[in-house]
Amino acid sequence: MASSPPGPKGLPVVGNSREYAKDPFAFLTAVGEAYNRIVRFDLGPLETYMVTDPVEIERVLVSEDDRYHKLVFGDAIDDLLGDGLLLSDGEQWQNQRNLANPAFTATRIQGIADTMSRIAAEHVADWQDGDEVSMDRELAKLTVKVIVAAMFGVEADDDTVETVQENLEPLGQRFEPDPRRVLVPEWAPTQENREFAAAVETLEGVIDDLLEQRQGTIDDGPTAVSEEGEAPMDLASILLRARERGEQPESQLRDELMTMLLAGHDTTALALSYTLYLLSENPEARARHHAEIDEVVGDAAPDARHTRQLGFTDRALSESMRLYPPVYAVFREPQVDVKLGGYRVPAESAVMLPQWVVHRSERWYDEPEQFDPERWVPERRRDRPRFAYFPFGGGPRHCIGKQFADLEAKLVLAVLGKQFSLDYVGPELKLRGSLTMHPQEPMTMRVNER
Ligand code: HEM
Repeated sequence: MASSPPGPKGLPVVGNSREYAKDPFAFLTAVGEAYNRIVRFDLGPLETYMVTDPVEIERVLVSEDDRYHKLVFGDAIDDLLGDGLLLSDGEQWQNQRNLANPAFTATRIQGIADTMSRIAAEHVADWQDGDEVSMDRELAKLTVKVIVAAMFGVEADDDTVETVQENLEPLGQRFEPDPRRVLVPEWAPTQENREFAAAVETLEGVIDDLLEQRQGTIDDGPTAVSEEGEAPMDLASILLRARERGEQPESQLRDELMTMLLAGHDTTALALSYTLYLLSENPEARARHHAEIDEVVGDAAPDARHTRQLGFTDRALSESMRLYPPVYAVFREPQVDVKLGGYRVPAESAVMLPQWVVHRSERWYDEPEQFDPERWVPERRRDRPRFAYFPFGGGPRHCIGKQFADLEAKLVLAVLGKQFSLDYVGPELKLRGSLTMHPQEPMTMRVNER
């Protein structure tokens, strides 16, 4: 079989971990530029193969998907979410995905649009002209409210929202292939491990409370997110029914709802934060976005119908997820030896597919650092390979929440853009890797009434 791909030399034991830990984004860009298509490096003991060729990415995610499993970083996160959709594999994953799919149909998602729009409007109701807000934090709270309403069918009070948002953050950090963690056992009483354990306990308590509330409202009849006369199709209700049929162990039900809270709020909040940042940095694009909202939405409350006509806003969102993909890399573990880019990649290594590198490659994008929403008009996107852009992954494990996120993001942009023009006031945007790509510092924005 073919030989191993080239890559940067690392130190024994830690490999290239130090460079990665210092600034994962700079490290990935540098190795992506230096080595074409596929490169090998070591993150601690993890033999990592980073693949940047869209054709090979397609093979991993789609055509040869059955040769790979999800890669899970560490036992703690596996114990917590291992049975949920994001991390499970094989038959268990397929059963959970089949069970969850009805909560994500187009009709059901459109049906939540008015709730999303209302929650967004309520969330910004006290913003005043001249206020400075930590936009990423505000949007994280807003998206927690939305995901709780959609997945649990109940509306969370402000305290619950705050608790969920604050405690999800240490969980997200556990997903990172943090080389330091490789060297410290997960049971060691480090501050991070203690925080993680405390966060898990708190969140499990919140989930139990929300489920109890939901059980109560099911007995009381339909809510804002369930239709009269139909079995409620929020995920919690679907899973509770499966539990009653004996098809959903308690632990799996919790894992699934925890997964949805985690996967379903932070990603969307980040996509929105980076879009607002880029619109602020590009005032012409922002003016066009505002003009579009005035024309399509006018004085109405934004709804699902409006979002279908927000073409420029849609392109701005796509362009933002190109430059700042909330999920900046996905990982797989080959179950057998595979061949990628002409090289041999061994079973049980780590295959890394980095949106961050591919989305910013000159091979697919002219002036890749420029924010240019018009890249997404059909004539210009036609010539690009399918996997030159994959913010939601691809193949059978593509994001189940894509339509949900897309609708929510457009509604929130419409609610905000209708009323406010937002100016980014710093600090200079620097990024930090976690499960998702976070700003290092809060993203402060000044609110101007339009
Ligand atoms: C802009 C927002 C979002 C982005 C960028 C995003 C990105 C992704 C990506 C890249 C994957 C694939 C991971 C992989 O292949 O390893 C994924 C999977 C997943 N996402 Fe999202 N996501 C977003 C919003 C959401 C929302 C709103 C939900 C839930 C309501 C959600 C739930 C999930 C779940 C459960 C999976 C695992 C699916 C499976 O393996 O069957 N995501 N997401």
